[in-house]
Amino acid sequence: MKKIKNICCLGAGYVGGPTMSVIALKCPDIKVTVVDLNADRIDAWNDDNLENLPVYEPGLAEVVEQARGKNLFFSTDVDGAIAAADMIFIAVNTPTKTYGEGKGMAADLKFVELCARQIASVATNDKIIVEKSTLPVRTAETLQTILDSNGNGVNFEVLSNPEFLAEGTAIEDLFEADRVLIGGKQTPSGQEAIQALVDVYAHWLSPSQILTTNVWSSELSKLTANAFLAQRISSINALSALCEVTEADVDEVAHAIGTDSRIGPKFLKASVGFGGSCFQKDILNLVYLCRYFNLPEVANYWEQVIIMNDHQKYRFAKNIISTLFNTVNGKKIAFLGWAFKKDTNDTRESAAIYVAEYLIEDGAEIHVYDPKVSATKVRADLSYLWELKGLTEDKITKKLAQVFVYDDPMAATHNSHAIAILTEWDEFKTYDWKSIYENMYKPAFVFDGRNILDATVMKSIGFQFKGIGKG
Ligand code: NAD
Ligand code: UDX
Repeated sequence: MKKIKNICCLGAGYVGGPTMSVIALKCPDIKVTVVDLNADRIDAWNDDNLENLPVYEPGLAEVVEQARGKNLFFSTDVDGAIAAADMIFIAVNTPTKTYGEGKGMAADLKFVELCARQIASVATNDKIIVEKSTLPVRTAETLQTILDSNGNGVNFEVLSNPEFLAEGTAIEDLFEADRVLIGGKQTPSGQEAIQALVDVYAHWLSPSQILTTNVWSSELSKLTANAFLAQRISSINALSALCEVTEADVDEVAHAIGTDSRIGPKFLKASVGFGGSCFQKDILNLVYLCRYFNLPEVANYWEQVIIMNDHQKYRFAKNIISTLFNTVNGKKIAFLGWAFKKDTNDTRESAAIYVAEYLIEDGAEIHVYDPKVSATKVRADLSYLWELKGLTEDKITKKLAQVFVYDDPMAATHNSHAIAILTEWDEFKTYDWKSIYENMYKPAFVFDGRNILDATVMKSIGFQFKGIGKG
């Protein structure tokens, strides 16, 4: 049975960095090298000051500190790392296509394909290739075709090993995974490859936490898991709209249904809408696949999860505008939070971006504070959205003049007409809301897009307070 001694991972992002750091920590007998084309990202992973790591995750810095330089290395030498490895993880980005066939729906697999081509051209001995990126079902077939075309007699076994970690709890999720999933071919060499990867995870997970399947089930399970999770959020968000017009309370409804053991309590928190790099992209990819395989009803069913999420973001922004007497033109709206969820510096697909866009369109000034997101990032997120919409550079510069970013929540909220809570950072609950109130224009509005503040307390201070799904 093959014993893995040398692992390489292509892609040092939110998945590659944390997963490989944990494998290195838990498997001191394996050398782990994480490579990336982005030299700045690799420099940040190698920074002596652990506060400068490119990914913020609770507990990550401690893991990197223990393993880095011992059996964990970050490098830009992609070819060298591929050549030395027995097992290669592909953890590169697979964003939604922004051009051509499948634009706005299909996963863009160009980065994954480039990895396969590079591995094929560099490898001189047998290797196990592990799909860690989220991929459409049957991608392993494409990878195998590209890898086998190198024609130098090297045997490649392709496994699917999707990642289920959630940002903000990545280290916890990796240490104590509900399960890891490994899919491979049902041939003797496929089974041997599966076992080699099982042995890596068995350094810290029990056999019951390691599931093995055929490769297609594994690939499809990743898209399915994200679709189910996102569907729960869209379901509760859809009902939050009904709660608002019927005086039902969405948190009470969620609690009441969540205590049914068949439904369960998790992922029923109504919000301004889900964000993150995964849910939307993976559901769009699922919808595209269903249409590709001529299953229009199935595609339409899943697409509704995205339609409802877009509606929720729009509904939140529209509610701010109509409550502020039907215009926010020239008004200062403070945004508490920009990240797509708490405990991460990731802003990809964050609801905050879209809510800001609607309000800016109506003439608002947006004053942002997020404990982990920089001003550069906030501006880049909005610029990127406007570029995609085809706005000229001049127009983008003009709109960006309506955006202000602060290091201090008090400065962001000072002299504001309204505060919108876009991320559920714990620190927001601890603020001195009385003095925030005193420094705002009256009536002072708070729109809690995460239902984290106590409505009774906020109203007793004097705020006009609106939560999600509260009558
Ligand atoms: P990311 O953008 O943070 O990181 C990807 C990295 O890959 C980038 O640094 C990029 O420079 C690098 N890269 C691209 N092409 C390369 C190449 N040819 N060689 C070396 N490096 C290359 O992306 P991410 O969030 O880490 O996601 C990676 C994959 O994991 C995606 O498929 C995503 O859907 C999936 N996933 C993400 C999460 C999450 O929470 N972010 C969770 C589960 C699964
Ligand atoms: C998700 C999956 O949970 C994870 O398994 C997968 O590997 C990657 O995609 P992530 O996007 O990092 O993880 O975070 P998650 O906790 O799932 O939250 C996604 C979005 O949904 C966030 O914007 C969050 O605020 C929102 N959300 C989550 C809700 O609005 N309500 C909830 O009840 C839960």
